[in-house]
Amino acid sequence: MLKKELEEKWYQFYGETDSEVIANLLDDLRTGDFAETVDLLVNKIRGAYALLIVSKRNPGEMMAVKLGSPLVFAYDTANNFYFSSDKQALSGYADKLIYLDDGDILHIKGKNYQIKANWIHISRKIEEMDIDSLEASKGNYKHFMLKEISEQPAIIKRICKGRVNFVDKTMNAEAFHGMHDEHFKKIIFVGCGTSYNAGVLWTYFMEDLAGLESSAFIASEYEYQHIHVDDETLFVFISQSGETADSISVLKLLKSRWAHTFWVVNVVWSTISHLTDYGLFTRAGAEIWVASTKAFTAQVTCVLLLALFLWQKRWLSKAKYDKVLTELERIPAMIDDILDSSEQIQHVAEKIVKYKDFFFLWRHFQVPVARESSLKFKEITYLHSEFYPSGELKHGPLALVDENYPTVLFTPNDLLFDKNISSIQEIKARKWIVVTVSDKEIADADYTIKIWTTIDEMYPFVTAVVWQLLSYYTADLLGREIDKPRNLAKSVTVK
Ligand code: F6R
Repeated sequence: MLKKELEEKWYQFYGETDSEVIANLLDDLRTGDFAETVDLLVNKIRGAYALLIVSKRNPGEMMAVKLGSPLVFAYDTANNFYFSSDKQALSGYADKLIYLDDGDILHIKGKNYQIKANWIHISRKIEEMDIDSLEASKGNYKHFMLKEISEQPAIIKRICKGRVNFVDKTMNAEAFHGMHDEHFKKIIFVGCGTSYNAGVLWTYFMEDLAGLESSAFIASEYEYQHIHVDDETLFVFISQSGETADSISVLKLLKSRWAHTFWVVNVVWSTISHLTDYGLFTRAGAEIWVASTKAFTAQVTCVLLLALFLWQKRWLSKAKYDKVLTELERIPAMIDDILDSSEQIQHVAEKIVKYKDFFFLWRHFQVPVARESSLKFKEITYLHSEFYPSGELKHGPLALVDENYPTVLFTPNDLLFDKNISSIQEIKARKWIVVTVSDKEIADADYTIKIWTTIDEMYPFVTAVVWQLLSYYTADLLGREIDKPRNLAKSVTVK
């Protein structure tokens, strides 16, 4: 609409972006006063935006405005100014930061700034940049991704601290704010990408451990479905950044319908945690680079705790509950073991790096991990991978069979071990290459990455890390830009 109006005034457009419309609109609205022009602009445009505006006529000045989209303003001791949608990106540059509110107009002149809302000067809370430089540096690691993968054992311990007591096997009710409501009969998880994949795994945990009906939805799709809201349903929003536009959009829709909402978010000062009723922070620390690894494990750990907490009031046997906690305490050591024996994973990476297409075929608890592993793998290696529950193989995908299509099966010694072995035999009969991750020797597999034995619910923690590492080493052999994969951004703040 605005574009059409501008075209009628002979403005020319060279692309399809809204930014180009805004730049031309600013020119059209120009009054000679920079601040006044920007004010006219914000009164005219609709929808979510975060804009930084400079004008050739006002050198040394900049204006920032936002509505709906995140915008962090930060500065260092020399009053150099920085902007980002996510504070993580500013660590190492700025010391102080301010989260701008919707409708704020920030005006920079030289080394000074002022913020106005409705033409009145206001001051917003100034925060310290709390991401320490160690967290924001690679240390001795070749890539941030490898560093963040290696942090996972410590993160799991941190998540459990104060929330669970492994000695007397109790959960601290205070830590699960809001979840005292026993009337929830259904849980719906909403997220995107890796966070959605964590949500799918959570549905298994919720149903298996808490006996609660649950489903997971991709935010960008869910928004257009008929969403049934009632008093017995809890909507859980999962997000590392807390700023993902697709998730925020569904959240706002649900809030307008008085839905019960809960967050599982990593970045503390973020839109999703603000808009949601209550929740859990995942305590993964700053996840700085694009491919999500430690955030996934942290999300999965948090919901495992939540499921166990809910269980206490519901159904599982005490023996099973105790066993899950015992094994959860061992998970950091299991992951440490994988990190320490990473040569076995590097060896497999060297063998598979020559292929272009991969199948990820897993069952039950491993299906969401397959989904996540396939995403991680394609994201940083740029190789094609598909995932299927193994049982689906004969319903179509077998048509793709040839010896150039390696298949990855996670075959821990769980409930479905025997079924997985028959899948492997079916695949080997067609001469596929088979890579497995297991605590058992798999005679028919070409390569097996060994992990420790645990219980069914805990294998996903371990298998996910194995595949993070395998994706990492394969991408490294291919010389990919691992920390900044092409075409991707850390926070997806536009729809
Ligand atoms: C993949 C990845 C993305 C994010 C997705 C949601 O490695 O990082 O798929 O998981 O963009 O982001 P958050 O969790 O910040 O809502």
